[in-house]
Amino acid sequence: MDAILVLGGAGYVGSHACKALAQAGFLPVTIDTLRTGHADAVKWGPLIEADFGDVEAVRAAVRTHGVTAAMHFAAMSLVAESVAEPVLYYEKNVAGTLRLLEALEGEGVRRIVFSSSASVYGETDRSPIPEDAPLNPTNPYGETKRVIEGALRWIGQATGLGWCALRYFNAAGADPDREIGERHEPETHLIPNILRAVRARQPVKLFGSDYPTPDGSTVRDYVHVSDLADAHVAALAYLAGGGASQPMNLGAGAGLSVFEIVSAAERVLGLPIAREMLGRRPGDPPSLVADITRARRLLGFAPRRSDVETLIRTAAAFDAAQREA
Ligand code: UFG
Repeated sequence: MDAILVLGGAGYVGSHACKALAQAGFLPVTIDTLRTGHADAVKWGPLIEADFGDVEAVRAAVRTHGVTAAMHFAAMSLVAESVAEPVLYYEKNVAGTLRLLEALEGEGVRRIVFSSSASVYGETDRSPIPEDAPLNPTNPYGETKRVIEGALRWIGQATGLGWCALRYFNAAGADPDREIGERHEPETHLIPNILRAVRARQPVKLFGSDYPTPDGSTVRDYVHVSDLADAHVAALAYLAGGGASQPMNLGAGAGLSVFEIVSAAERVLGLPIAREMLGRRPGDPPSLVADITRARRLLGFAPRRSDVETLIRTAAAFDAAQREA
């Protein structure tokens, strides 16, 4: 069984990728500090409690398990925090990843799938956004992703490392079997915050109704986390088959506004949801919708679970499972 090193395998997207890897016949070997990840989300392979930038821990894991490729999900990922503490973001996301790449190179690991983000694009007039659109991140979080993509390009040229940078748009939903899901603390994302507000019988706080979008709220491209997970397994096969290293967008390929998401949640949950309108959240671009032509063509990517009903239904079902536990 091929062992794949999964940095951040105890986190939201990483744990779903571990499940998809196991289903495809791989052994996912997780390295995670568990600072934001959850040990009980690591169900399909060993867990090594360490930092992804810990060169010795990474090298030992590769040797022990005979790792052939890596998937790198681990990062600090709060946009507002990144604006307040840029040094921390550069240290963890950039410097840590460089140490990881050095460790992988030292052990002869030749392929990596990297979690990038739509935030590399920043404010853009393009919709949908193709991969060759200009990269103008509007916060340090997105900037750290852009910097690592650049490093991968140069390192790949120098060493032959094969890489894919998967630019997620808005990851949402949860494992349809309710085994894993989204558990962030603090929670900043829209759909889990809608579920929290409903549970607490509070209005959901919505940020901004004066954007230049059809209904005034921001438009995002929400993609199911299990669809993202499948794309990672496909990216590994693509690289193993000699596919060219490059960034690829992962989204549903369609946009939904904040107000449309709240209305969909009312339909799916079958109850009215009270709204509290607040001002814009700093750093939020008006609209981010993915052009997913490249991932469709090169990875056979097909978002099968990314319709809004499935996104909200699976997120709510995992949320309920957590409460029953
Ligand atoms: N929103 C609310 N209320 C909430 C939470 C969010 O109105 O309680 C709004 C936000 O202001 C934003 C939209 O819903 O307009 C989506 O917000 P999310 O926080 O769910 O997602 P973002 O688009 O801000 O962020 C996501 C990822 C980031 C990544 C970014 C790329 O979570 O890691 O996409 O733009 F950087």
